[in-house]
Amino acid sequence: MEILILPDADAVAARAAGIVQDMVSHRPDAVLGLATGSTPVAMYRRLVERHRAGGLSFAGITTFNLDEYLGLPEGSPLGYRRFMREHLFDHIDIDPANTHLPECAPGADPRTVGPAYEDAIRSAGGIDLQVLGIGANGHIGFNEPGSSLGSRTRIKTLAQRTVDDNSRLLGEGETQPGLAITMGIATITAARRILLLATGEHKARAVALAFEGPLTAMHPASALQMHPRVRVILDEPAASELAQQRYYHWVEEQNESIAARHGGSADEDPWFHPSVDERDD
Ligand code: PGA
Repeated sequence: MEILILPDADAVAARAAGIVQDMVSHRPDAVLGLATGSTPVAMYRRLVERHRAGGLSFAGITTFNLDEYLGLPEGSPLGYRRFMREHLFDHIDIDPANTHLPECAPGADPRTVGPAYEDAIRSAGGIDLQVLGIGANGHIGFNEPGSSLGSRTRIKTLAQRTVDDNSRLLGEGETQPGLAITMGIATITAARRILLLATGEHKARAVALAFEGPLTAMHPASALQMHPRVRVILDEPAASELAQQRYYHWVEEQNESIAARHGGSADEDPWFHPSVDERDD
């Protein structure tokens, strides 16, 4: 795990947007796993700005979002496709047909959505870079505490903590759905690269447990400890409960000095080595 602690949320967004841009430049047909929530909004804004400034095209990109609520009325403002359109898709040159969310069509059996989503991810060649936030209870996607570490995309009942946390975003007359369809933990950790972002003191405990605590289904983000290519980008408040903060800063200094000596472009970054992108089929 690489844990990078930056001064503030703005710096987190800028660094994260740079990593997504490097991924897209390195592989213009990359498959990106995307997240909703407050944390990635500033990163999406920067990606839109970079697209508008020229030089960043999403024309060949395919996306799979982590999750979607189940049972929302059609056109609900809470829907995550709407969120993604508002913050990213409508402002870049991505083909809407290549943007996927685990949505359940009206009248369809929601139990069929997960296996079909897994098939779609597989057919697209797997996820090259998965962007994640983290819930205050340690969830990733909507994999609540107790989710199997081997889980795949499926229906998940939301924890009360998640319902309460997300209720802050509700408009008048809206109620928070209690069910969602989410990529599983094994779906997420099958991604070739993972970028987890967290900002704000309210995430500090969840971050410390995820990266310095035991590997446990009771704190789903701790499953990332098993993944070989995870980058965690935090602002100082979100990092404030990590015991090894000084070490992470020291490691970053060493990485910078290696990059200064041997080349610091994305092409020279082992994270983007072509072997990481090899497809199974
Ligand atoms: P947030 O949500 O970005 O809105 O804090 C993160 C999450 O619940 O995964």
